[in-house]
Amino acid sequence: MIKKYFDHPLRDLNSFHVEERADCIIEFDRKQELDEIFAEGNTPEKWYVLGGGNNILFTQQYKGTLIHPAGRNITVLTEDSEQLTVEVESAVEWDDFVAWCVERELWGAENLSLIPGNVGASPVQNIGAYGAEAKDVISKVHFYDVEQRGHRTLSNAECHFAYRDSIFKRELRGRAIITSVEFRLSKQPNPNLGYGDLARETEARGGATLKNIREAVCAIRRHKLPDTAVLGNAGSFFKNPIVDAAVAKTLIAKYENMPHYPAANPEKRKLAAGWLIDQAGLKGYRAGNVGVHDRQALVLVNHGGATGGEVMALARYVQEQVAQKFGVEIEAEVNVL
Ligand code: EPU
Repeated sequence: MIKKYFDHPLRDLNSFHVEERADCIIEFDRKQELDEIFAEGNTPEKWYVLGGGNNILFTQQYKGTLIHPAGRNITVLTEDSEQLTVEVESAVEWDDFVAWCVERELWGAENLSLIPGNVGASPVQNIGAYGAEAKDVISKVHFYDVEQRGHRTLSNAECHFAYRDSIFKRELRGRAIITSVEFRLSKQPNPNLGYGDLARETEARGGATLKNIREAVCAIRRHKLPDTAVLGNAGSFFKNPIVDAAVAKTLIAKYENMPHYPAANPEKRKLAAGWLIDQAGLKGYRAGNVGVHDRQALVLVNHGGATGGEVMALARYVQEQVAQKFGVEIEAEVNVL
C-alpha cells in the first residue's frame, strides 16, 4: 500500500536524531507501486530514498519527497547441500537478516552482525566490517530505475563493488530505488577471523561456530560503537582515506605506529581515519550538542537536540584539523542532504 505523509518530522527516521523535517514522504511495500509513484507526469521533482536512515545526515528541511521502502519479505529461491540463495526485501533490518542466516547455519554474513541499517542500503555503500563486505554474499540487486521507468536487476559484477562504493553511488546515483537483494550463503563452515580481536573474542566463547562469531562481533561493536537509541550517530562518519603509497610512506616515517592497510590499487594505501582524528586530539571532543565519540573517533555523535547543521560544522572542523596535522583529506561516508 502507498502511504503519503506531508511536512513530516524526521527525528525518529534518522539515526542521528537531528531535528529536521521533510516536505513529503511516500512509503510503499510492493515494488509494483513504484510504477504508480513514478508514472509519467506524476514523478516527484526531487526525491531521495530513505531506508533505515542510518547513514544519512539531514542538514535542513528536505524540500522534496523521501521514498521509503516498507517491504519485508524473505524468500528462499534455491537450496542444495552446499548453498542457499535468498531474496530479501529492502526494509528488512540488516541485522535481522544476519540473525536469520546464523539461525539456519548459513555462512557469509556473520562478520557483518549488528551493522545498523536496512538490507536495501547494504549494496549502495557495500557495507563492511571485520574483514567482510556485503559484496561477498550479494548475488543480485533488484531495483527500480527512475530514468527508464522500469524494474531492473544487476549481477554482483555489474554492481562495481569497491570499498564503501558501488554503481549506486556513481552512475546510478539519483536513479535507483533498490527493492530487494539476493544473497548466496554457504552451508560449509568458513570462519573469517583475521581482523583485529575477532579470533580471540571468538575463542573466548568456545570456538568458531556461527553463533560464537556473531556474539563476538556484537560484543566488539557494542564496546566501541555508541547505541543510536542512546546517542544519535551514523556509525563511521568518515571513510578511511586512500592515499598515494608515497604519501603513506612519508607519514609512516614520521608516525611509526600509524595503522595502514593495502588498498585495491597497489600504488595506494588505506589509512585509518579514526586514528588520524584521535591523534589530532579530537577523540571525545565536544562542541555544544555534538561531539566526537570517546571510544571511536570515526563516529560523530548527537549529545541531544543537535541540528544537522551543527553536526556538519563539527565534521568540517574535524576535516580541517586532520588536513592541518597530516595533510590528508578525509571524506564523509555518510550521505549529507
Ligand atoms: N583507531 C584509533 N583511535 C580511534 C579509532 C581507531 O587509534 O579512535 C585506530 C585503531 O586502533 C585501529 C585503526 O585505527 O588501529 C582502525 O580502527 P578500527 O579497527 O576500529 O576500524 P575502522 O577503520 O575505524 C572500519 C569501518 C567500521 C567497521 C570497522 C571494523 C570504515 C569507515 N569503518 O572502522 O565500519 O566496523 O572497520 O571492521 O571503513 C561503519 O561503516 O559505520 C563502521 C562502523
